[in-house]
This record gives sequence, structure tokens and C-alpha cells, in this order.
Amino acid sequence: MSILRLKLPTDPRWVNVVETNIGEILSDHAWCEQKAATNAINLIINNSEKEDLVTAMLEISREELEHFQMVHDIIKERGLTFERERKDDYVNELAKYMKQSSDGSRESGLIERLLFAAMIEARSCERFKVLSENIKDEKLAKFYRDLMESEASHYTTFINFARKYAETIDVEKRWAAWLEHEATIIARYGNKETVHG
Ligand SMILES: [Fe+2]
Ligand SMILES: [Fe+2]
Repeated sequence: MSILRLKLPTDPRWVNVVETNIGEILSDHAWCEQKAATNAINLIINNSEKEDLVTAMLEISREELEHFQMVHDIIKERGLTFERERKDDYVNELAKYMKQSSDGSRESGLIERLLFAAMIEARSCERFKVLSENIKDEKLAKFYRDLMESEASHYTTFINFARKYAETIDVEKRWAAWLEHEATIIARYGNKETVHG
């Protein structure tokens, strides 16, 4: 995962926690996909004149909805309940950082939102990799390996749009700051049976 430049790898013992409650991680994961689809739609709503961004976000929102459906199918196949949405503390902490980081300009708002999305894709991708390499359930191991590749490509899309639409902002500097900040957040996680828990 060095390509994603994450500062802090997930301790694989997190997977032991996940395995105690597969129903919980699947419900939480389904909601993560819903939020990713919603985020892509929101980027369309706020940037309709950027044709290439809208085109890419339509594609991503469709893929995230497909992931949502795939997770929901697994929940159904296993006779589990799709639990009500729970708040994602990790993502909420990143959202707080996004709001603090924007200077209020349209450019800054867009760049911070794209980096926020890239950050979640990068960490989700890393979590899926750790799951695929450590989970005993072979079907889920394969499922998470496939999703990992898809989320890695979303990460690249978000980072590339940040580079493209930055005019006055130094994206590499902002991304380095995001990576530093994310490490201080994720250090407090890794002990719950959720995607970012
Ligand atoms: Fe996804
Ligand atoms: Fe994604």
C-alpha cells in the first residue's frame, strides 16, 4: 500500500475483531458504499459545469451503488439483518478536518472535498487489503480483494481531479497534510468490527 502513502498501517489483529461479528461489518460496509455514492452525487450537484468531473462522478456513484448492492446480496445470502445506519466516527473526524482546512473559497472547498474523498478511498482500500489477506472466510477474502482494486482506482481519480482543478493551491502540500492528520486519527482506531473502526 505504499503507493497510497498512508502513514500508519492497520494492525491485522483488527480482523480478529471483525470475525467475531460479520453481520456488523457487512452492515457498516454497506452504509460506507451508500455514503461513497452520495458523496459522488454531491460533487456533481456542486460542480455541474465541470464536464469531466461530472462524467467521472456518475461512473463512481454507479460503481459504489453496485458495491452497495453486492454487500446487501451477501447480507441476504447469509440470512443476516441489514442493520440501521450507524455514525462513522472516523469519517466524521475527517469531515471536521475538511471544513477546518477550507478557506471558504470555491477552489479550496472543492480541493478539500476531493482530498477528503481520496483519503477515505485510500484507507478503505487498505482496510479491504488487510481483510482480504487475513479473513478466514474465503468468499469474503476474494470479495474484499476485488473491491480493494476498485477503491484504489477511485482514490487515483479523486487525487487527479484535485491536481487538475487546483489553481492557487499546492495539492501535494495539502495531501501531505491530510496524510499526517489522518495518521493521528486512525491511531485511535482499529478495535471495532466496522470498516473504519
Ligand atoms: Fe466502493
Ligand atoms: Fe470507492
